[in-house]
Amino acid sequence: MTTSVHELDLPTLDLLDIPFEDAQSVMLGVAATSWIARNPFGYTILRHEDVAAILRDRRWHNAASIIPELAGVTDEEFLARQKVSILSAEGDVHTRLRRLVAPAFSPRAADRLRPFMREVINGLVDPVAASGRADIATDICEPYPIAIICELLGAPKSDWQLFSRLAEDVLRVFNDNFVEDLPIIKRAQEELDEYVRGLIHDRRARPADDLITALIAAEEAGDRLDTDELITMVGAVIVGGTDTTRNQLGCSVALFADHPDQWALLAERPELASRAVDESMRFFGAVRGTGRFASEDIEYRGALFPAGTMVMPSMSVANRDAAVFADPATFDITREAAGQNHLTLGSGIHYCLGASLAKAELQEALPILARRMPDLAIAGSITWKPSNVGIFGPEHLPVTFTPSAG
Ligand code: HEM
Repeated sequence: MTTSVHELDLPTLDLLDIPFEDAQSVMLGVAATSWIARNPFGYTILRHEDVAAILRDRRWHNAASIIPELAGVTDEEFLARQKVSILSAEGDVHTRLRRLVAPAFSPRAADRLRPFMREVINGLVDPVAASGRADIATDICEPYPIAIICELLGAPKSDWQLFSRLAEDVLRVFNDNFVEDLPIIKRAQEELDEYVRGLIHDRRARPADDLITALIAAEEAGDRLDTDELITMVGAVIVGGTDTTRNQLGCSVALFADHPDQWALLAERPELASRAVDESMRFFGAVRGTGRFASEDIEYRGALFPAGTMVMPSMSVANRDAAVFADPATFDITREAAGQNHLTLGSGIHYCLGASLAKAELQEALPILARRMPDLAIAGSITWKPSNVGIFGPEHLPVTFTPSAG
C-alpha cells in the first residue's frame, strides 16, 4: 500500500509573518533537498517539474473555490457565485466557459489595445516627469490596469473613477479581513453587476469593438453565455486582471531599480521588452503561489495524497529551479526562450486567461518608464504588502529619477 503523504518525514515550513525575501530564501533552501514541505495548511510544492505537473493534473482542483468557506464565509449566495466563476470552476463547467471566451482573449485582441496602453502610461508619467520623483505604486501601477480594463470592456473614461472604486471593494476578497469585509464586497459586487448589465444591454442594441460585444457574440456549436454568465465572466476579468497587473508592474520596477544596468539596457533597446517582461515575471512574480486540493485520492511520486489534501504550488520557488533555468539567481533581460517557462501565469487548464493582455500591458509600460525615468533609484524604502497575500507587490514604491523629455 502506498504511504500517505501525512506519514512521510518531510521538512516543515511555517512562514507566516516572515518578510517575503526571508520566506523566499528559506523556501529555496528547503527546495535544494526536497521537492515538498509540510506547512500549516497542507504541503508546499517547491520544484518546477512538480509545480507544473500538479497544475496540469485535472484531479487537483483550484482552491479558489473553497477559500471563502475555509475563511469562514457562510453566505450561500456568495459561495454559489464563486463556484460558477471561471477562476474556480472545474471539469465540464470550466471547459465550456474557457472554450467560449478564449478567442476574445487572443494575442491579437490584446495587440489592438497597445496604442491605448502607451497613451495611458505616458499620461500617468506626464504629471510626475518634471519633478524627478514619484511613488510608482500609487502614481503609475494603481491606476494603469483600471483604464485598460475599462477600455477593454468598452466603459467610457467618465466611469474610470466609479469602476476603480467598485473594483477596489470587490478586490477585498484578497485581503486578510475578507470575512469582515464581506458586506462591502457584496455591495460592490451588486453595484458592479448592475453596471455591467447596463453595458451588456447597450451592446446588445449597439455592438461595438470591445470585449462585452465579443463575449455576447461568443458562440460555439450553438452554445452561448447567458446574461448572468456574462456578468460573472466580467467579474472574473476584474478580479483576475486588476490587482495582478498593477502588482506585477510594481514588482518589476522594484526589481529594475535594483539592477540599473538592466533598466538602462531596456531604455536603449525597447525591442527587449518581451524578454524583459518574462524575465521579471520569472525573477519576481506578483503571484508567488497558488492553492489546489485533491478532488480524489491521488498518487504522486510514490505518495498517497488523500482526497481533500491541500497543496500550495510555489511558482516563485519553481521559477528559480536550476534544472530549468541556467544561472537562476541572475536577472538578465537578454535571457532567451527558456526564460518563458516561468510559472507566474500558472499552467494547465487555469493558465491565465488574460496572459496576452497582461504581457502586452507590461511590454508597453516598462520601456516607456525606462526611457522617461532614467537613473531610477529607490528614495527611502519600499513598503511591501504582507508576504502572505495571494497577490504580492509594493504598496509604496518611492523613486527619484533624472527628469527626461523622453
Ligand atoms: C501580470 C498580471 C497577471 C498575473 C501574474 C496573472 C496570474 C494568473 C495566474 C497565476 C492564474 C492561474 C491561477 C491558478 O491556477 O491558481 C491566472 C488565472 C486567470 N487570470 Fe491572470 N494574471 C495576470 C493578469 C490577468 C489579466 C490582465 C486578466 C484579464 C483580463 C486575467 C484573468 C485571469 C483569469 C480569468 C484567470 C482564470 C483562468 C481559468 O481559471 O481558466 N489575468 N492568472
